[in-house]
Amino acid sequence: MSEYVVTMEHVTKTFPGVKALDDVQLHLKAGRVMALLGENGAGKSTLMKILSGVYTRDSGEITIFGKKIEGDLNTKQAQALGVAIIHQELNMCQHLSVAANMFLGREITKGGRLDNVEMNRQAVEELAKLGIHDLDPDEAVGNLTVGRQQMVEIAKALLINAKVLVMDEPSSALSNAEITEMFRIVRELKAMGTAIVYISHRLQELHHIVDDVTIMRDGKYITEGKFEDFTMDQIIANMVGHEVKNQFPRETVEKGKKILEVKHLNAGKLVKDVSFDVYEGEVLGFSGLVGAGRTETMRAIFGADPKDSGEILLDGKPLEIHSPGAAIRQGIVLAPEDRKKEGLCTKLSIRDNIALPNLDIITLGSPTGKINRQTENEMIEKGKSSLTIKMADAEVEAASLSGGNQQKVVVAKWLARQSRVIIFDEPTRGIDVAAKVEIYDIINELKKQGVGVVIVSSELPEVMGISDRIIVMCNGRITGEVDPRNTTEEEIMTYATQFGDHAAPASLSLAS
Ligand SMILES: Nc1ncnc2c1ncn2[C@@H]1O[C@H](COP(=O)(O)OP(=O)(O)OP(=O)(O)O)[C@@H](O)[C@H]1O
Ligand SMILES: [Mg+2]
Repeated sequence: MSEYVVTMEHVTKTFPGVKALDDVQLHLKAGRVMALLGENGAGKSTLMKILSGVYTRDSGEITIFGKKIEGDLNTKQAQALGVAIIHQELNMCQHLSVAANMFLGREITKGGRLDNVEMNRQAVEELAKLGIHDLDPDEAVGNLTVGRQQMVEIAKALLINAKVLVMDEPSSALSNAEITEMFRIVRELKAMGTAIVYISHRLQELHHIVDDVTIMRDGKYITEGKFEDFTMDQIIANMVGHEVKNQFPRETVEKGKKILEVKHLNAGKLVKDVSFDVYEGEVLGFSGLVGAGRTETMRAIFGADPKDSGEILLDGKPLEIHSPGAAIRQGIVLAPEDRKKEGLCTKLSIRDNIALPNLDIITLGSPTGKINRQTENEMIEKGKSSLTIKMADAEVEAASLSGGNQQKVVVAKWLARQSRVIIFDEPTRGIDVAAKVEIYDIINELKKQGVGVVIVSSELPEVMGISDRIIVMCNGRITGEVDPRNTTEEEIMTYATQFGDHAAPASLSLAS
């Protein structure tokens, strides 16, 4: 028996117009965590979908626990062989309960009826194995945080006795405390002998759990080895194909006049008396724990949520914004954090995703609202080239793009407009290290043009590396303001956990 529980050799896969995988290999060992690394569109998710039977390979050999897979592998077979996958975009039935999701497609019945009592019992038992004792199996999954939903997915994998678990960017939408909990569980699974594939663009977190790495680039296998045998620079150079010298290329521009003033803004439960200003030529960062109210603040300014009280002024004039459409017309745009729900129509083409919010520009000067194809093409070309979006062509569905490339489309559509204020909420979530620098370059460019840039980010190195000024929020309030050139992660975290009279949640952790 080989030392490997899974081997994939010479795997190829072509989608219309894209060679997603070209002669790729992967070797997994029991009880070890393999980081599968590569830029956006490198083929990581595709390779893992082949291993878990979601996609079929064009050619190549797969061996799972000594069994050579002849012909196509489907999801049922992969599961029977012990392979489970937690997808990049979680796909759970939001309205169904925790237990129902865990037993989806493998429901337990008694006398021809669903045996909910038994399913609940087993669900609780599996969750307890992961050290989770406070989750109600009857709770609808839609009411849980993303972190908790992920725990349910992991428990579901345990239920099918998974010996190989693929986690495709599990940390990208989690809070720090949830990431710490997820790491604890990964370590537990490892101790049970599970082989884990861990995909992430948050390279700083890898050292907490990773044993081995496999690096891909452009659909090809590049190298593999023990994590400790690589420096971070070597990992990045292998992913990108060249060195990335400056990960945070902040440029200093002279601060201009005040553009946006937010005064005593109150909205819902998570925006309490928030006041701040944004100046021309500056990047204002917003830091804080997940749930601190940063996204809610931005949504209220953008008119996506109603505000209860407070004033917003643009260039000294009070604004009445009751809808995102009104905000966009007045020069304030928001690139939201949840690309799937709010940022993109995945069923529409890339062209339409970029063009639709900019119809006013594309039809400008035409009394009948006729689309100016040339303007439209220029707009798409600009987005494509300034962000190197990897796509067959602009007519394909946004759904066919890799996760990171979808995120780039969300950013690209706002670059087409002359906006006064651009708010980026977690703009680099799921984006690879080289593309992050592309986005930072764009932010620098906007700053030079005098645009006021606001960036909400949960990654401390990012918000500290790219902002000119950082506002920290906790529990709906602004608790601090710091100069990123002159602060520490500890200082920011101190402000981020100033809960005032309210006790901090017990599980709170400051891991980055
Ligand atoms: N269903 C599909 N139809 C067409 N093309 C696809 C499909 N799925 C993936 N691709 C293409 O295959 C290539 C590899 O995509 P994949 O999703 O595997 O990348 P990835 O390494 O996971 O990237 P990311 O880090 O951005 O998630 C990309 O060019 C992508 O557009
Ligand atoms: Mg992917």
